Amino acid sequence: MKERIHQLLQQIEEIKLKTEQETEEFRLKFLSKKGEINDLVEGFRQVSADQKRETGQILNQLKQKAQEKWNEANQIFQGGSKNKFSQRRDRSLPAELEFSGARHPLAIVENEVIQILNKLGFVYSEGPEIEDDWHNFSALNFPPNHPARDMQDTFFIADEIALRTHTSSVQVRLMENQKPPIRAIMPGRVYRNEAISARANCFFHQIEGIYIDKNVSFTDLKQTLFYFVQQLFGEDVKVRFRPSYFPFTEPSAEMDISCLLCKGEGCNVCKQTGWLEILGCGMIDPNVLEASGINPEEYSGFAFGMGIERIAMLKFDVKDLRTYFTNDTRFLSQFKNY
Ligand code: DAH
Repeated sequence: MKERIHQLLQQIEEIKLKTEQETEEFRLKFLSKKGEINDLVEGFRQVSADQKRETGQILNQLKQKAQEKWNEANQIFQGGSKNKFSQRRDRSLPAELEFSGARHPLAIVENEVIQILNKLGFVYSEGPEIEDDWHNFSALNFPPNHPARDMQDTFFIADEIALRTHTSSVQVRLMENQKPPIRAIMPGRVYRNEAISARANCFFHQIEGIYIDKNVSFTDLKQTLFYFVQQLFGEDVKVRFRPSYFPFTEPSAEMDISCLLCKGEGCNVCKQTGWLEILGCGMIDPNVLEASGINPEEYSGFAFGMGIERIAMLKFDVKDLRTYFTNDTRFLSQFKNY
């Protein structure tokens, strides 16, 4: 067998593949299932044990050589997809456009929310991610012993300086710097000292909204948010408000929407309740207005805050929050049509 392999090696070395047809004949003769090399591979089982190693090595060499020879010729004659840079190509043609990326799902949702609320006159605003105690907690009516002020829940950087735990801090900055009427949305990244899991991360994104003017009422809040979710999820969506508690709003509520999947019938996503919680809201507490220099006798306002990850999970049926942050292109490239 060794002799035959050497013969073939020699033969292949000498062959010159000058046409497409010769290349195909070469493939049939040596590389196809019924070709000579495959015959040898099949015969290899009978080679005696002491010869197996050496024979195996040259047989592999032969396979490689034949394959390389064929690949080289095939590239020249086939051109096309396997061979973008072959000599047969016109290199003066404009380059083919490759897939160049997609928007991140969180950016898609953030943009959509901003656009909807823009139509109602809410203007975009931003605040810092490193925040002091006053803007993140005290001005928002958090009592001194509130658990969120604990090291376990908040990343402190220095005494009374932390990574903001919510975008509500930006409300305070706006109220301090502007006179009502104020109507703003404030998206951004927030940080909490949480164990990372499919449902929680140590940072995530929120969008905050406020509206402050004379005679702003809870009715305005309800109608604004109802319009907002209809635009975001479709006209059929229903809403309900549940009483809740936040230090900076009074009264406070959480808003649920009817489950997008089962339309309120009850399913796994809504845990059989027919409802999905999507944001917190309320009338801005007079203490908060006062702390920021706005007279609560003259003005009132509402505020709301929502998690972008949560909305994007509902919208795109994403089950694990961590996929937003691991930069896996198999996940990210699915959003190129948005
Ligand atoms: N800051 C709250 C949080 O992070 C969300 C929130 C609730 C914001 C009610 C608001 C509001 O403006 O009125 O959980």
